[in-house]
Amino acid sequence: MLASVAIACALYNTVSASVDPRLKWWTDARFGMFIHWDMSSLAGTEISWSRKGSKPLDIFGDPAGYVEDPVYDHLYEHFNPNKFQAEEWATLASAAGMKYVVFTAKHHGGFSMFHSALSEYGIKNTAFGRDVVRELFDACRRHHLKVGVYYSQRDWHQPDYGSADASKYHAYLMGQLTELLTHYGKVDVMWFDSFGKGDSLKYWKADEMVALVHRLQPGIIVNNRAAYFGEDVPSLRGDFDTPEQRLGEFQNDRPWESCMTLVTVADGGGWSYRKDGKPRTYAECVRALASCATGDGNLLLDVGPDASGVIPSDQSERLREMGAWINIYGKSIYGTRGGPFKNGPHGGSTYRDRTVYLHVFNFPAAGLVLPALKSKVREVRLVHGGAIQFSQNEKGISIDVPAAKRDSINTVLEVHLDGLASKEMEDGKPIPAF
Ligand code: GLC
Repeated sequence: MLASVAIACALYNTVSASVDPRLKWWTDARFGMFIHWDMSSLAGTEISWSRKGSKPLDIFGDPAGYVEDPVYDHLYEHFNPNKFQAEEWATLASAAGMKYVVFTAKHHGGFSMFHSALSEYGIKNTAFGRDVVRELFDACRRHHLKVGVYYSQRDWHQPDYGSADASKYHAYLMGQLTELLTHYGKVDVMWFDSFGKGDSLKYWKADEMVALVHRLQPGIIVNNRAAYFGEDVPSLRGDFDTPEQRLGEFQNDRPWESCMTLVTVADGGGWSYRKDGKPRTYAECVRALASCATGDGNLLLDVGPDASGVIPSDQSERLREMGAWINIYGKSIYGTRGGPFKNGPHGGSTYRDRTVYLHVFNFPAAGLVLPALKSKVREVRLVHGGAIQFSQNEKGISIDVPAAKRDSINTVLEVHLDGLASKEMEDGKPIPAF
């Protein structure tokens, strides 16, 4: 009995440190684009939440940002984003170094950004009329970007949502999911968005929903929000966790993805186009991506296109800057795992095979000294070029980066070992360092 427990634990440890083959492309990708867009961009207030009657009102709670329901519900009649070019968005995502795109096919507001036979409240009934999901996914595939459907189970427009007979809304939701997962080719990620505790138990059958998704799209990966963060129905914890508007903690026994807005606003939203939005700084963005990768997670960075269909230039410029960064430092991000050192406010590390990439945000006054490793360090280099002096003994590794060679945002160093970096961790646990 005890022996079998020990064997099971040993197996578990091996399994938890490796990646499920279905998720390999995704953990290798590390960086994706989230897009929140629908006719709410006309008002420039938060998508869905700014519809006044939509509860709870304490979220994104600037009353000045609210739009009266009758106004909100008719915004689509003026929605004609004739500058929308899927090709431009896909080109931008790719230039930013992103490897996948997740798009709001329907947000909580209930507006379908795809041609749905099941609803009149959608893009098909605007002057624009084109199927945004189709154009976007086709363009993404031309750029070798994987595609993800964001579909909100909450729906503040569909009359059956929240009614006493939950089966009607459930049938609607299953119908729309079937459209999305059969009419648009291969879908790589399913991004649900339920976070109201108990909602999934009252308003839709989350287990049937997830089974449908897997049946229609074998190989798809699903986030943890089919039911309240997976917690309402623990069997539906999904394939990955989704820390929101914050950087995930180090976690290498279950995949995760921080979803964060590129634009920030006082009320904590900023998912969709906001008149009052201001992009995060370049330093914040670079460090956010490095923090996710060093913590063994992904970053899904969100943009909010405007009502004409354009990703505003302050957002797109920032993304191009990210792309320039990743052109140099991509090898320390893509296809790496977080570790063997634990990340923290001063930086962290990623690794691949025998190479450890150190991401140093701030150098301690006493210089960079890392805990001891089992392997011998053969060489330390700056990723953008140049050997760096170091010394190693049984107490640790001291790395001497001259001030002139430090980068004020993130100094990325590659440390070549004579053994596998993964072996430095005991049971997959990272070594405290930063
Ligand atoms: C928040 C917002 C929602 C957004 C989601 C993305 O829950 O309320 O609008 O789609 O974050 O994670």
